[in-house]
Order: sequence, then structure tokens, then C-alpha cells
Amino acid sequence: MTTQADSLQLLAAAPARRAGAPLIGVTGGKGGIGKSTIAANLAIALARGVRRGVAPDVLLVDCDLGLSSLDAILNFPRRRNISDAMDRRLPMRQCILRAQGGVNVLLAPRGIERFASLDTAERASLILQLNECSRARDVTILDLPAGIHADGLALAHSADYLIVVVTPDPASLADAYAVIKIAKERAAGTRIGLLVNQAPGPVAARQLTDRFAAIAKRFLEKEIEPLGWVPRDPAVSRATLARNPVVLSEPGSPAAAAIRVFAGRVSGVLETLRRERDADSSAWM
Ligand SMILES: Nc1ncnc2c1ncn2[C@@H]1O[C@H](COP(=O)(O)OP(=O)(O)OP(=O)(O)O)[C@@H](O)[C@H]1O
Ligand SMILES: [Mg+2]
Repeated sequence: MTTQADSLQLLAAAPARRAGAPLIGVTGGKGGIGKSTIAANLAIALARGVRRGVAPDVLLVDCDLGLSSLDAILNFPRRRNISDAMDRRLPMRQCILRAQGGVNVLLAPRGIERFASLDTAERASLILQLNECSRARDVTILDLPAGIHADGLALAHSADYLIVVVTPDPASLADAYAVIKIAKERAAGTRIGLLVNQAPGPVAARQLTDRFAAIAKRFLEKEIEPLGWVPRDPAVSRATLARNPVVLSEPGSPAAAAIRVFAGRVSGVLETLRRERDADSSAWM
């Protein structure tokens, strides 16, 4: 267990913006809208090399420390996970497992009450250890818990880029607005992209994206980058039941094709983040 003194030291050491490989948070206001599905399939699509055949080294992290789900989505028997590192039984890098589709994954514990809500010191320690693990990778994707849970917010704050998942459901849109408002208050400079999941079609998805971006710009003075849409597709439900992500189980499905297009856009974002980071570091030489 981390002491109060450790906590202050860790917080002082934890930078709001990190050096190293980009950290992408996948978030959204509401539960059950497809955040984990999108995070897992995005990680696999990136790891398989969506651009010019270049396959990056991807780390996918289940940040829902109370109710993990990536173990089910990726059909992983629950073994080593983040709780082993938090309890200092293992260094976090030794908790990383190799999952389907060539993705490296850090699983979350499930049903261990004390991990459902961390204290400040544990949260800071988790962020520092994740930063350490992400440094050796090309990109790290954080599957964040729904809403404005304190742990989720702290982790979202540590990300270089936030992907906000919404569905056409009005409750999902209102909650996503709240998440963006808080993200802006906590880390004004973090870039935010919007993905519409479970959309009925391209026209509805485009209209929703434009409307949402206009509202965010007007009331929050925040630019939202459109990242596209994924249709509501029974192939995704089948993939969830089969515990085999849709980009692997049904690569020809409309959802898998849309996820590959979305992953291509995320690749473009990663390139700009890397260029910005390189420019920042050369400014200090
Ligand atoms: N595009 C889609 N088409 C059809 N079903 C979908 C789609 N996206 C997600 N789903 C289904 O929605 C359900 C919830 O997905 P998921 O677990 O990814 O949501 P979540 O936002 O991560 O939930 P939680 O907030 O509990 O972490 C799953 O059964 C999944 O199959
Ligand atoms: Mg989830």
C-alpha cells in the first residue's frame, strides 16, 4: 500500500503531459455503448497495420478496475492483471499479456472491491506505471470506464488524445457532453475526437457529428475532430457472444470495414501527435 509521503512524491512526479509514445483514451458518457468493443477492435486494427502495411506495437489497457470486460471480449482466461502490479507482486510490464490479433494487453481485476475506487496515491502510482509501460510501445489505448468516475477522469487526464464514443441515444449524447466539459476543465489542451457507434447510417452519423461538434464549439469552445462512425451491426453482437472481436471474426462485415476506416483516421492522429512530440523535444536541444 502506498503511504501519504509516497503519494505526494508520486503526484509531484506525475506530469500532466508525458514524453514518449502516444496514449489514447477511449471514453464516453454512458455505460454499454460500445467503448470496450471499439477500443479492442481499434487496437487490433492498428496492430495489424492499417497504414502502408506498418504494424505498430500496440498496448491495450482495461482501465475499468471494478468491472473489467476486455478479458471477455478477447476471450482471455483471467490471469495476471493490473492488481498484481498495484499490490506490488509484479512489475506492471510483467502483467502484460499477448492477446488475439497481435495486441499486448493489460487486463483489469474483476470484482475486487478495493480496486473499484482507488485512493489518490494508488491512482498516481497507476498512472506512473502505465506511462512507464507505454513508453516502450508505439501506442497505448486506454479502455476507460463510463462517465465521470474519479479514476476514469484521472486516467483520461493522462491521455494525449481522447476518443469520445457516442450513440444516437440522446442520453449518450448528453453524457458525452458532460465528459467533454470536464475533460476541457481538467486538461484544456487535450485533443478530442468523436466516434458515432451503433449508427443507423452515414447520413445520420454525419448529422449527429456535425451537431455535436457545433454545440461543443459554441458552449465549450472546444474543437471536436470527427473520427467517423460504426454501424449497428449484428456481426458485433455475434462477435461479443463468440468472444472474438469483429475485425477478426467477421472482417468482411460492415462494422469491421468501418472500424478499419476509423483506425486509419486514428493512425493519422498518431502521426500528428508524434510529429508534435518530436518538434517539442527538438525545441529543447
Ligand atoms: N456497432 C455495434 N453494433 C451492434 N452491437 C454493438 C455495437 N457496438 C457495441 N455493441 C454491443 O453493445 C454491448 C456493449 O458493448 P461494450 O461492452 O463494448 O460497451 P461499453 O461501453 O464498454 O460498456 P461498459 O460501460 O459496461 O464498459 C455489447 O453486447 C456489444 O456487442
Ligand atoms: Mg467497457
